[in-house]
Amino acid sequence: MSKRRLFVTTALPYANGKFHIGHIMEYIQADIWVRFQRMQGNLVHFVCADDAHGAPIMIAAEKAGITPQAFVANIASGRKPYLDGFHISFDNWHSTDGEENHALAKQIYLELQDAGLIEVREIEQFFDPEKGMFLPDRFIKGECPSCGAKDQYGDSCESCGAVYSPTEVKNPYSALSGSKPILKKSDHYFFKLSDPRCITFLQEWTQGLNAEGRSRLQPEVLNKIKEWFVTDESGKSGLGDWDISRDAPYFGIEIPNAPGKYFYVWLDAPIGYLASLKNYLDQENTKNNVPGVVSFDSFLGDPGVEQYHFIGKDITYFHTLFWPAMLHFSGRKTPSSIFVHGFITVSGEKMSKSRGTGIDPLKYLALGMNPEWLRYYLAAKLSARVEDVDFNPQDFMLRVNSDLVGKYINIASRAANFIHKQFSAKLGTVNSNGEQLLSQLQSAAHEISKLYEEREFAKALRDIMALADLVNEFVDQNKPWELAKQEGAEEQLQAVCTTCLEAFRYLSIYLKPVLPALCAQVETFLKCPPLVFADANTRLGAGHVINDYKHLIQRVDEKVLDKLFELPEVVETTPGSASKPQSPKAKGGSQPAHSADAPGGEPVAPTIGIEDFSKIDLRIAQIVSCEAVEGSTKLLRLMLDVGEGRTRQVFSGIASVYKPEDLVGKLTVMVANLAPRKMKFGVSEGMVLAASHADEKSTPGIYILHPWDGAKPGMRIH
Ligand code: MSP
Ligand code: ZN
Repeated sequence: MSKRRLFVTTALPYANGKFHIGHIMEYIQADIWVRFQRMQGNLVHFVCADDAHGAPIMIAAEKAGITPQAFVANIASGRKPYLDGFHISFDNWHSTDGEENHALAKQIYLELQDAGLIEVREIEQFFDPEKGMFLPDRFIKGECPSCGAKDQYGDSCESCGAVYSPTEVKNPYSALSGSKPILKKSDHYFFKLSDPRCITFLQEWTQGLNAEGRSRLQPEVLNKIKEWFVTDESGKSGLGDWDISRDAPYFGIEIPNAPGKYFYVWLDAPIGYLASLKNYLDQENTKNNVPGVVSFDSFLGDPGVEQYHFIGKDITYFHTLFWPAMLHFSGRKTPSSIFVHGFITVSGEKMSKSRGTGIDPLKYLALGMNPEWLRYYLAAKLSARVEDVDFNPQDFMLRVNSDLVGKYINIASRAANFIHKQFSAKLGTVNSNGEQLLSQLQSAAHEISKLYEEREFAKALRDIMALADLVNEFVDQNKPWELAKQEGAEEQLQAVCTTCLEAFRYLSIYLKPVLPALCAQVETFLKCPPLVFADANTRLGAGHVINDYKHLIQRVDEKVLDKLFELPEVVETTPGSASKPQSPKAKGGSQPAHSADAPGGEPVAPTIGIEDFSKIDLRIAQIVSCEAVEGSTKLLRLMLDVGEGRTRQVFSGIASVYKPEDLVGKLTVMVANLAPRKMKFGVSEGMVLAASHADEKSTPGIYILHPWDGAKPGMRIH
């Protein structure tokens, strides 16, 4: 079979923030697939870029007092440590503000215009008179038209979940200036998605098969798309025309022949895939004799080239409708498939940038945690379905320690020693039992490749670990440690250990897409050239000499894992002592239990002024629900209503004193403006006030505060 040529991308992240664990998950998923394809001998160009344009970035830059170009350059300069750190093998990282993208976006737009698919229409939109600009939906705030909740965004209500248009918001105000926006007319450019040609094309494209004979979209995605196509009572298609222009001031690409008009960021963003590829191939072509590298135009003009985009479920609409239509009607090749993944949650919680949840990928690396633990763990949970994936710390530790280290790495460490000590590092001849095992491992290559190809990574790893189980059973049956003590059993010992190392090599081939750095160490250890899938047809063979075995990977240490979640002292101690670094406990408990200088076991803190006190926002909170926290004897999880139209989660170290059911419905006092804290069990969004003696041992007990009758949730304590 001739080798396939693939163009693969991940979504282009907005250049307004650092990577979070969701980005890293997407890159790991795509990277595993790409590495697998490369190990099959296929040619892959794997690229990404920063998504630089749009109003939010322009506004953030303005706030930072720098140009948007400087702002995104700053973000771009921070990308490398993440990508290198997690072994993401992009060939190129570019920006949608690069010259290639400016040129390509204009070209594609003009081609769409030639195809008669661009229309200018006057629309009415909110305009901030103070800032002199039209407001994006997210920058209009006001009362929800549905439930009346205050301070809601212009497109949806966080309190009741209603979705609406910005003009429906009651008492709207500009989030930029606070001023009351006015409605103003302006010409906008539309891509006519409702054109019958578009509808027909998209119906066929979404449901059809690609050149490889596979469906372009996953079944769940197809179902969703059917909803989008539904026609209303009047027979109008569900696909509305797409507003692709924004008025100046805007950070973006100017629309040709339309002064003061810019492409909406989502028009030029996916074109950034092509721009990054072009930027890459142009660079490669200036080098001499790079095998397989042709010009951008001939690469993308080649009908044999396959094109795949890995994306998250939230941006499906853009990639399965707008993007293929843009490509098709500008006379270009459309994607072979769009691979949609679900979201990563952490301990069952959705990530939210504003609350700072999730796992900080750089902190993970800074703690010395092995990136391949995460690659392995995520691979063990990823499938071809659009399912959310949960990062659960306990499960993470278990899978890595018992499967990756316990089952796979152990095979090498058990066998290598004997081969070195007794056989001068030389492999021997495998006996018939061993042959049987090895042929089983060898013949699994086909099925495992198929699973990788289909992005069924969890299933692939399950199969691989089942093979590792077989190898471990083989070891247990043949007991090399006993053979080593028996006289005359040398040949058998060498055969058994050789089998183990040959088996270990097979497992390493299969795991290499997931564990590239580890497998590079394995290649050194086994003294073999870089492993590819075709190596499943070969052996190291009798007489092959291996290198010294160096420990390949550590186990996950629970202490480091705790640090990742910033497990605060509060978990191990009472809320009273935790917030007071000066407590006698910290100094060795030398304070007398009862003393005029140390009421409650500790001296009164230094004097503050009223302005210091007023920094602390204390509020009446109602305990809406309360439960024990699995895995902690100290903590209770409280859901508190502070009159905000939502509840807050707060962890409190009061489990030894209060039963959850006794607290439900009660009022108490909380610090409402304490920065949220990531904890192992979730985010704590505040702190409940409680009294305790500094010396818990001599005077145990924790007492939460309870306001007098009449206080209502949300009231401030002055
Ligand atoms: N800039 C757009 C994409 C343009 S593509 C031409 C964008 N950027 S993003 O930074 O918000 O998201 C980048 C990718 O990360 C998207 O595929 C998105 O779905 C993915 N994820 C964001 N949060 C995620 C999780 N919690 N879990 C997994 N992936 C998530 O959208
Ligand atoms: Zn509402």
